[in-house]
Amino acid sequence: MNAIYLQEKQLKVDEFAAVCRQTLRQEEYPLAQGSELNVLIYRADSLLSAARDDRKAVLSELHRALSSGPGVFVVKGLYDNLAAVDRSSQLFEAILKDEAAAGGGGDHFAKAGSNGRIWNALQKVAERDADAFIDYYDNPLLSIICESWLGPGYEMTAQVNQVRPGGKAQQPHRDYHLGFQSNEVVEQFPLPLQILSQYLTLQGAVAHTDMPIESGPTQLLPWSQQYQAGYLAWRDPEFIACFQQHAIQLPLHKGDGLFFNPALFHAAGNNVTQDRVRTANLLQVSSSFGKTMEKVNHIKVLQSIYPALLQRELPEDKLSAVIASAAEGYSFPTNLDTDPPLGGLVPQTQQALLLQALREKWTPVHFNQQLAEHTQKRQA
Ligand SMILES: [Fe+2]
Repeated sequence: MNAIYLQEKQLKVDEFAAVCRQTLRQEEYPLAQGSELNVLIYRADSLLSAARDDRKAVLSELHRALSSGPGVFVVKGLYDNLAAVDRSSQLFEAILKDEAAAGGGGDHFAKAGSNGRIWNALQKVAERDADAFIDYYDNPLLSIICESWLGPGYEMTAQVNQVRPGGKAQQPHRDYHLGFQSNEVVEQFPLPLQILSQYLTLQGAVAHTDMPIESGPTQLLPWSQQYQAGYLAWRDPEFIACFQQHAIQLPLHKGDGLFFNPALFHAAGNNVTQDRVRTANLLQVSSSFGKTMEKVNHIKVLQSIYPALLQRELPEDKLSAVIASAAEGYSFPTNLDTDPPLGGLVPQTQQALLLQALREKWTPVHFNQQLAEHTQKRQA
């Protein structure tokens, strides 16, 4: 088996099941208040006081919990200021209502109807209510948790997810980055890069409502982040069956936080209640890495070279090499309200737009228009 380039057909569900069969030894996590179903449970006040004594000890333990540990932990009472949570919840309701009235606010990652989504809730809340923003993000423990996984200089984003009565469970999956890509794309990344990618984001959820089991809190499969080939595995029926057999759910209270390694297999649960709306603010936090040293204005580069590129009849390999240097090759970051994914889970990249333009022999004027439109809809 090629250890650098994996293929979907090489995966073995038995290996995955063995990885996920580990048992948590809570004594290895002395700051935890307890554990349930292989998930570490922390209390916000005790973590904060431990951090005052020895911040590095807290950062280290939380990091281990997400990497060599079960890959997930809960912080009870992450928000003791429930008024701040409620104030944000009221804003979420207002935003959901306004966006629904404007015909937008869709969720490309769930079936329409019983699911509400606010993309870029971080910016939308800040623009509507500065005090609400400050009262929500002034949480020192949230900062410690982000730093434990990502180090300093991380960048916060937030997406609200609301699952109404009758809302259906998601399929198990991994999250951003590679969790959004097709297997065809994932296979092109060397395995060490696939593994590394989990260190570039942290996935969190703040409960804005109480979440009893029947309201469908996230189904989680502890340890599954350790299965190295997992980005190619989660669509496979055998792996889905294994997930469904072993996944666990924990009830949460308003103000609790759930944090997990983005490589952990998980899925939103069924909301089988008649009357309970389940609302979480999903925090997706990114590492300061993965950015270039210089800011290149790719629009100017492309406007400059497109007419000449169109004239040339470059062979495929040369054309690909030029495109790779001239245009941006990644779908993110973008504005998911105005630049939704086409077909799959990822919006069109600048490179794909350029390739399309060359294939269809767009005039430079038309290309510049399309490029401007593509750029505009990706702005926040
Ligand atoms: Fe997810």
